[in-house]
Amino acid sequence: SLNQQYEEKVRPCIDLIDSLRSLGVEKDLALPAIAVIGDQSSGKSSVLEALSGVALPRGSGIVTRCPLELKMKRRKEGEGWYGKISYLDFEEELKDLAGVEKKIREAQNKIAGPGSGISHELISLEIASPDVPDLTLIDLPGITRVAVKGQKGNIENQIKSLIQRFITKQETISLVVVPCNVDIATTEALKMAQEVDPEGERTLGIMTKPDLVDKGTEDSVVQIVHNEVFPLKKGYMIVKCRGQKEIKDKVSLTEALEREEAFFSEHAYFKTLYDEGHATVPKLAEKLTLELVHHIKRSLPRLEEQIEKKLKTTQANLDKCGHGPPPDATDRIGYLIDRVTAFTKDATSLATGEELEFG
Ligand code: GDP
Ligand code: NA
Ligand code: MG
Repeated sequence: SLNQQYEEKVRPCIDLIDSLRSLGVEKDLALPAIAVIGDQSSGKSSVLEALSGVALPRGSGIVTRCPLELKMKRRKEGEGWYGKISYLDFEEELKDLAGVEKKIREAQNKIAGPGSGISHELISLEIASPDVPDLTLIDLPGITRVAVKGQKGNIENQIKSLIQRFITKQETISLVVVPCNVDIATTEALKMAQEVDPEGERTLGIMTKPDLVDKGTEDSVVQIVHNEVFPLKKGYMIVKCRGQKEIKDKVSLTEALEREEAFFSEHAYFKTLYDEGHATVPKLAEKLTLELVHHIKRSLPRLEEQIEKKLKTTQANLDKCGHGPPPDATDRIGYLIDRVTAFTKDATSLATGEELEFG
């Protein structure tokens, strides 16, 4: 089963990285972050919300105003739940998920001011639970072309430079969100991803809003997902999230997943995508987790090399220091004389420019 496959193949990799991380290895092995980019209202926050089970600020207009890092850590069944929000020098443990959306809005107001300004400052949300995948995802403000009241005129450039800052990093996998009801050729985010990743090695396309596809254009959406229109090495997935009406009707995230499955499995055109494993949020989560494991495996040889190098220089430095003072008091005089002699020799060498013995 999928769960068994996860425990056997994915879990050991994640555990390895966790123990390396506790040794402080994170600064050497940059774990991939997955950044979600796309036009405003393309469905970025909805995809993140569906992947994480965490209700995020979302809707029309510019809602995501600061980068939001969502660090998810999967726990074993029965291990309970943990959550924390942090930004600037503020940190708060969360009691439950109910109030998260409000806390994020508060954080955005504190960082970017009330209104619709944006900021580069990161809001970090950590969630550990049996119900989340082992992933770090970053929600970013959507690309918008027209400044609204309260925004600076160069808002488009501000947002683009913010997005660029994230997607330029080699460890970042870009999820480019494209609604089924817009022309993919006009998608700015896809162009930006292509600029920093011309081969599409670390870009994954996500088609959203399949329920809003223009009648008669279903075939072209299938072609896009089949990677025939705008090819990417990592290909495309298609998902359906909650529309505005479903949110108003308080359709839960769990209920939304059931509706999504029913939608794809019964759809006249998209059923093939479902059968091929290109559709639904759970399939997307699975694909992303495998991408993470793939990255870790690829990084391990480089990490081993770095560790060996470090060990060698540390050992060499240690050898230079020689032994410490002996435990026996009578031996210490001899030790002290040796040190003083070595020091005097070094002091002389300094004057003559010879190689130092004392390091
Ligand atoms: P963002 O600005 O890219 O973060 O977009 P949001 O996630 O805030 O979504 C914008 C709007 O599209 C919201 O009203 C969502 O409810 C709606 N939406 C997102 N995904 C879907 C979908 O698959 N189908 C439908 N009908 N609406 C969606
Ligand atoms: Na939005
Ligand atoms: Mg958003």
